[in-house]
Amino acid sequence: MLTYRKAQPSDVQLYFDWANDLETRQQSFNSREIPLETHTAWFTKKLTDPDALLLLFEDEQHKAVGQVRFERKHETDMPAEIIVGVSVDARVRGQGFASQIITQGCEACKEQWGAVTIHAYIKADNQGSVRSFQKAGFKFSHGSGKFNPPGQEGLNLVYVKTL
Ligand SMILES: CC(C)(COP(=O)(O)OP(=O)(O)OC[C@H]1O[C@@H](n2cnc3c(N)ncnc32)[C@H](O)[C@@H]1OP(=O)(O)O)[C@@H](O)C(=O)NCCC(=O)NCCS
Repeated sequence: MLTYRKAQPSDVQLYFDWANDLETRQQSFNSREIPLETHTAWFTKKLTDPDALLLLFEDEQHKAVGQVRFERKHETDMPAEIIVGVSVDARVRGQGFASQIITQGCEACKEQWGAVTIHAYIKADNQGSVRSFQKAGFKFSHGSGKFNPPGQEGLNLVYVKTL
């Protein structure tokens, strides 16, 4: 059973290493490497952002195995959109941790923001992610080019779960 806690300032380097993991960059909508200064400013801001929930997961030996992040984006004349992102440490991938992290993270998200609908934007070739979200109870909703960088075609998969 994994346990989790909110991310804290001393996690900055760990999150930096996870963010620049090769596969994580490839599966992100902005695939460029992230400089440390940019990351530190971003991470520091997110820790106090009321619209962000960053949870770090540990195994029974208290070793960090991955993270999930929920971000609440306010929309005019519509309910806020909650977007989820997950990553698992490269050393412990392939053991089904992601679906546990997503499931437990969604419970924490519900405690924080109530019975919201959560959206996961997944690149079409990221079958490990698709499977992990499905196992955590997400259902395919539609294709979207919302986060495509300029000039990039193709639709990403949007998976949805209502808490
Ligand atoms: C995607 C990610 C979170 C998955 O985490 P994980 O805990 O290692 O997931 P697993 O490898 O255990 O895979 C989960 C399921 O997907 C399946 N799967 C994995 N790779 C697959 C592939 N290429 N094709 C089909 N199924 C695949 C596994 O068999 C498993 O299914 P099962 O439990 O029914 O056997 C992890 O690989 C990661 O951190 N990747 C980089 C960041 C990322 O892509 N984040 C998601 C952005 S949306």
